[in-house]
Amino acid sequence: MATAIDEDRLHAFVGKMLGDLGGGMSVPTVRLGFRLGLFDALAEAPATAAELASRAGGLHERYVREWALAQAANGYIDHDPASDRFSLSPEQAMIFAEPDSPVYLAGAFELIAAMIEAEPKVEQCFRHGTGVRWGDHAGCLFCATGAFFRPGYVNNIVQNWIPALDGVEAKLRRGAKVADVGCGVGFSTLLMADAYPESAFVGFDFHAPSIDEARRHAAAHGYGDRVRFEVAAAKEIAEDGFDLITMYDCLHDMGDPRGCAAHMRRILTPGGHWMIVEPIAGDAPAENMNPVGRLYYNASTMICVPTSLDQEVGEALGAQAGEARLSEIIREGGFGTVRRATEGPFNMVLEVQ
Ligand SMILES: C[S@@+](CC[C@H](N)C(=O)[O-])C[C@H]1O[C@@H](n2cnc3c(N)ncnc32)[C@H](O)[C@@H]1O
Repeated sequence: MATAIDEDRLHAFVGKMLGDLGGGMSVPTVRLGFRLGLFDALAEAPATAAELASRAGGLHERYVREWALAQAANGYIDHDPASDRFSLSPEQAMIFAEPDSPVYLAGAFELIAAMIEAEPKVEQCFRHGTGVRWGDHAGCLFCATGAFFRPGYVNNIVQNWIPALDGVEAKLRRGAKVADVGCGVGFSTLLMADAYPESAFVGFDFHAPSIDEARRHAAAHGYGDRVRFEVAAAKEIAEDGFDLITMYDCLHDMGDPRGCAAHMRRILTPGGHWMIVEPIAGDAPAENMNPVGRLYYNASTMICVPTSLDQEVGEALGAQAGEARLSEIIREGGFGTVRRATEGPFNMVLEVQ
C-alpha cells in the first residue's frame, strides 16, 4: 500500500533541496570570484558590473554582470537595483575578502572542488574496499586543505589552543623543541614559530610535495635552522626529545593511529605534551547530525576514510571519531592522561601526557 505524501513535509524538503542545490551550483562561480579577484575588487568599494570588470583588471563585463547577479542571488554580495551597484557587507567581506578572518572560506570552496575531482577514485574504493593515497586524491587537495584550515589556525593556535594546555605556553616562551606531525604545507608550524621565537620547530609529513611547499613558505620568512620540515611518516620519525608534539586535523587520517600514539610516546621527553586538534564531534553519530557534522561526514567519506584505508592497519577513524574513541586509542599508545583542553565550533583540542 502506497504511503500517503505529506504535502507540507514535501514542500519543506524540496525547499531545503533547492537551497542545497544553489549552494552546490555556486561552487564554480565562487571559485572564479576568488581566482579572478572579483571579491577583493568589490571589497574596495561598491561597483557596477562595468566598474567591477575594470577594477578586477579588465575582465569581460557581460560575464562579470552575470557572475555578480549570481552572487547577489546567492546572498553572497548585495545588489542595489536603484544604482545597479554591487557591494560586500562587512560580514560578507569576512567570508570572501579577508584571508585572516576566522571565517574566510576560499579554502573550503577549493576543498569541495578537490573532492569532486577525486570522485572516480573514491568510487573504486567503495567497490573494492581500497584507499586513496593522500597525494593521489586530486590536483591540489593538499593546497586546498592548507587553505581550508589556515583561518582557524591563524585565529586559535596561539590565542586559544596552546594557552589551554597545562604549562606549555611558558615552556615555549622559554625555549622548547616542538614536532608538528602531519603538518601538511606547514601553516600551523610557522604560526607557532612566529609566536615563540625561542623555540625550535620541526614539521613532519609523509607527503613530499606538502613538505616542499612548507619549506618554500619557511624560506620566504627566513627562520634559519630554527624551523625545519622533513618528509616522514608519523611512526617513522627518527628524531626524539620533543617537549611538545602537535597534530592538527590529521590523527584520524592516519592508518595506524594506535601505532602513531605509541611512537609519539617514544619521541616525547618525559613530562612532554602532545596536543591533538581534531574535528569537533560527539561520540554517537546522532550527536553529529548538524551543519558542522554534515560537512565533516561528507569530507570524511571522500578524503579521510580513503586516506586512512590506503595505509597499514587502515583504522579509518573518520573525521568524527569522537573524544571517547580517540582517547581510547591514545591511551592504548601508552599515555596516562587525555583531556579535552578546549574546543571551538569546528575543533576540539585534546591534551595528552
Ligand atoms: C587533513 S591534512 C592536515 C594537514 C595539516 N596538519 C593542516 O592542518 O593543514 C592531513 C595530513 O596528514 C598527513 N598524513 C596522513 N597520514 C600520515 C602519516 N601516517 N604520517 C604522516 N603524515 C600523515 C597528510 O599527508 C596530510 O598532510
